[in-house]
Amino acid sequence: MNPSKAILVTGATGLVGRALCVELRRRGHTVRTLSRSRGDVRWDVDAGTLDAGAMEGIDAVVHLAGEPVAQRWSKDRRARILRSRVDSAKLLVNAILQQAQRPDFICASGINYYGYNCGGPVDESRPSGEGFLAEVCRQWEGAAQPLASAGVRTVFTRIGLVLSGEGGALAKMLPAFKLGLGGRLGRGTQLMSWIALSDLVQILCRCVEDTSLSGPINAVAPEAVTNAEFTKAFGRVLRRPTICSVPCSVVNLLFSEMGRETLLANVGAVPERLQAAGFEWQQPDLEGCLRKCIQ
Ligand SMILES: NC(=O)c1ccc[n+]([C@@H]2O[C@H](COP(=O)([O-])OP(=O)(O)OC[C@H]3O[C@@H](n4cnc5c(N)ncnc54)[C@H](OP(=O)(O)O)[C@@H]3O)[C@@H](O)[C@H]2O)c1
Repeated sequence: MNPSKAILVTGATGLVGRALCVELRRRGHTVRTLSRSRGDVRWDVDAGTLDAGAMEGIDAVVHLAGEPVAQRWSKDRRARILRSRVDSAKLLVNAILQQAQRPDFICASGINYYGYNCGGPVDESRPSGEGFLAEVCRQWEGAAQPLASAGVRTVFTRIGLVLSGEGGALAKMLPAFKLGLGGRLGRGTQLMSWIALSDLVQILCRCVEDTSLSGPINAVAPEAVTNAEFTKAFGRVLRRPTICSVPCSVVNLLFSEMGRETLLANVGAVPERLQAAGFEWQQPDLEGCLRKCIQ
């Protein structure tokens, strides 16, 4: 049994945060949520303000907040995607540094850190790559470096595509696939690094509880799949054909850079550090995970 901790969670109203808070409480931890509008404590990232006392008595901060990425990237959106992660991380870091007892910092990041076309296998030692999202991840992780330099335990979870029946990417794909209009994107050879939401929640809990972990951690299932394999597996689970395909040119036309860096991204991340730590996935198999998601 792990000793009970007090955890401050940002992004607690989001897909990952909601599930994480439920599990942290189930494990006996005390959870305080930090939100722009609905939390136990409030912040305004644009104004650079955070409720006084937000960090009081806190043992670990889990930072998940960030403007959604899956939208067309106008100049303004790009700025919001970046600022909502980096400026918020800086606010938290400064508040942590002011504490006599400094809480651990567990920060979300993405496998996008490695760039949108790095292929695989990619472990945590791979340097960062090309693209807007890689830059966002570098700055996001970089914002927490003062903590690591000050000796505060800091973990960066480089998260893959989160699969859940509750929302996120799968909910967006489901209508087309249900109509039999699902199909591979581009050539379908691009590697997709995915993770079941329930496994991601266990990984984040492990990061909170296991004080031997620090630095970057690829939060992905043990095996990446190609987009064509993903498409076929989803079709089998839904018992629908997946003969349609969307050419790269159409993805680019519809979604521009966002499409290139997410839908067509080719990143085969391997969770080397989790495997070395003996983490056990409940959903290591894509088809089983998809089946569970649509139950
Ligand atoms: N889901 C995925 O597939 C995936 C993959 C890789 C990485 N990640 C990262 O993991 C984190 C959690 O993902 P998620 O899917 O749970 O995200 P989500 O459902 O979009 O929730 C993110 C939360 O961030 C807060 N937020 C949104 N816009 C914000 C802004 N402009 N400024 C400050 N806060 C803002 C919101 O909380 P309040 O309204 O309460 O403030 C929201 O509930 C995100 O940072 C995401 O980039 C997710």
